[in-house]
Amino acid sequence: MLKGKTAIITGSGRGIGRAIALAMAEQGANIVVNDVNMESAGEVVAEIEAMGRQAIAVKADVTSEEQIKEMIETCINRFGKLDILVNNAGIIQTLPVTEIDGKDWDRVMEVNLKGVFLCCKAALAPMKAQHGGKIINIASVAGKRGGGLLGNSCYSASKGGVIAFTKSLARESGPFGINVNAITPAFTDTEMTRSIAPDKKEFIIKMLPLGRVGQPSDIAGAVCFLASSMSDYMTGEIMDVDGGLMCD
Ligand SMILES: NC(=O)c1ccc[n+]([C@@H]2O[C@H](COP(=O)([O-])OP(=O)(O)OC[C@H]3O[C@@H](n4cnc5c(N)ncnc54)[C@H](O)[C@@H]3O)[C@@H](O)[C@H]2O)c1
Repeated sequence: MLKGKTAIITGSGRGIGRAIALAMAEQGANIVVNDVNMESAGEVVAEIEAMGRQAIAVKADVTSEEQIKEMIETCINRFGKLDILVNNAGIIQTLPVTEIDGKDWDRVMEVNLKGVFLCCKAALAPMKAQHGGKIINIASVAGKRGGGLLGNSCYSASKGGVIAFTKSLARESGPFGINVNAITPAFTDTEMTRSIAPDKKEFIIKMLPLGRVGQPSDIAGAVCFLASSMSDYMTGEIMDVDGGLMCD
């Protein structure tokens, strides 16, 4: 499905990003495993190499324009091109509005929203030069319906921004043959959600027609589809991969 393609996946040292990196490698792509944690990124590279595929770990904070530029250069130097960018790196903040301070708010916006903008901006040059590319942004159902239950208003606002940005960039990039889509997962079983109290988790499961929380591999399958030629006529799409949460 992705044979000969090169993909950068931000925040792919663990969780959903790791599952995306492994699934794309399985489909034949060369992978840049980006993270701020080099130990976990190195482990994912080792897993990919064990499959007989190629990968490199690149340390870059998605809030740093300089580090992102270096990451794109490293990718082009190593693999000769950049076909797919998955903006997956993200952080959560679950405090109620009255308890979030300005610094916490800014950091969530910087990583979750500005990070997506900066990575897209840097990736557009090589993608335009090769007349094509696929950008997939990992947003969240919280960006559509708000946070509420988990008190994550700041996180929801950042993901709502990612959804609007995805649609805008899709319009802007379509003429260059670049597809820009987003995926909105609901509760997915990763480190990010592991601290959530069991009673809240049970409550969430009751809202899901499929009756279980998502696994990172559930998200990875949809990302591979959006990264492949099977979705060439889709852009600006916000795809729920959420166990049916948003179906009513
Ligand atoms: N887990 C869920 O229920 C869920 C639901 C909806 C959306 N999402 C989104 O999916 C994405 C992945 O979430 P996850 O659950 O796998 O989270 P996670 O916390 O398990 O993994 C996030 C990864 O991103 C990396 N990261 C954090 N800040 C970074 C930065 N500034 N630069 C580069 N890397 C950075 C972390 O080191 C980590 O490896 C996030 O954007 C998240 O908002 C998750």
